[in-house]
Amino acid sequence: MSQSVRARAKISALGTYVPPRLLTNEDLEKMVDTNHDWIMDRTGIRERHIADKGVATSDLSVQAAKKALSERGLKPADLEAILVATVTPDMLFPSTACLVQHKLGAKGAWGFDLSAACSAFVYALQVGAQFIATGAHKRVMVIGADVMSSIIDYTDRATCVIFGDGAGAVILEPAEDDSVGMIDFIHEVDGSGGCSLYMPGGGSLHPATHETVDKKMHYVHQDGQAVFKFAVRKQAEICEKILQRNGLKGSDIDAFIPHQANRRIITATADRLGLKPESVIINIDCYGNTTAGTVPLAMDTARQEGRLKKGDLVLLASVGAGFTVGATLLRWAY
Ligand code: UT7
Repeated sequence: MSQSVRARAKISALGTYVPPRLLTNEDLEKMVDTNHDWIMDRTGIRERHIADKGVATSDLSVQAAKKALSERGLKPADLEAILVATVTPDMLFPSTACLVQHKLGAKGAWGFDLSAACSAFVYALQVGAQFIATGAHKRVMVIGADVMSSIIDYTDRATCVIFGDGAGAVILEPAEDDSVGMIDFIHEVDGSGGCSLYMPGGGSLHPATHETVDKKMHYVHQDGQAVFKFAVRKQAEICEKILQRNGLKGSDIDAFIPHQANRRIITATADRLGLKPESVIINIDCYGNTTAGTVPLAMDTARQEGRLKKGDLVLLASVGAGFTVGATLLRWAY
């Protein structure tokens, strides 16, 4: 990290939330031409959580945020900034961060949304960490949340089996010393991949019209194989890069917590990096791909399974629409 850094940021609390309603593979078999075995074999997903109508990304975010605050014994007003990583904001504006700030009662906090699809949480985590590192803030909340069901075409079997809804929130604070907290990050963008995973309608290029609705332009469009190939290659490459420049081997990692897009992408990365099998955190079977929610949800799974302890060396990784790519190295702080 650069010489100007005054404090290393650490994650001091984590809270997650998924809506209670389940959408299982068996449910999907009744909706589209698919089957449980194909979904399990090709993606590793068994079920996903889906928000009820009227429940938005800010609602999931607030639930996750409250859990993180209570874990740390803080009040909403103790937060100085709230960053919401999402591709499904409640609306184009105001930002979901503003809605969360109000619903939470985080008087005095400012904030904004960050758009980087599946990499948005790891990007936002670093943005928040920089506010801590520069000394600008002492308590920043970073939320990764998506209601993917709001932009999925449930007649398209190529996409509807993959995604789910969920949220996770972390609190960032200055670390007391360098034994815990953020160590390093690498982020990349390859905009040439924009056409492989996108939602064409609803922005300034194609504002909502009857035609955009008829053409299903307000749904996720994905070239699954193109994304898969890129993700398998890039996730491993960026992880190798961050390990190498920190003088580490894959086997040094205690917890590998990647974006959960496809079990095969995760295991391919783990094999290539030579990770210890017990270090690889996978919960895609229970949640599907919750976009910005996956990494904090997987952190929580690791914690609940007793696989995340103070001082553990953690590698976060993601590849998402854009294409966006990210890797973060940190030591778990509590
Ligand atoms: O988080 C954002 C990043 N997103 C990703 O990382 C997604 C990356 N891509 C993937 O995970 C995979 O490409 C998918 C899971 C989306 C698809 O798996 P695949 O092994 O690449 O399948 P495919 O698209 O090559 O399709 C294989 C076959 C096709 O049939 P034919 O042409 O061989 O007869 C598809 O029509 O599987 C068929 N298929 C399905 N069959 C049953 C596609 N979707 C389904 C389905 N159920 N849901």
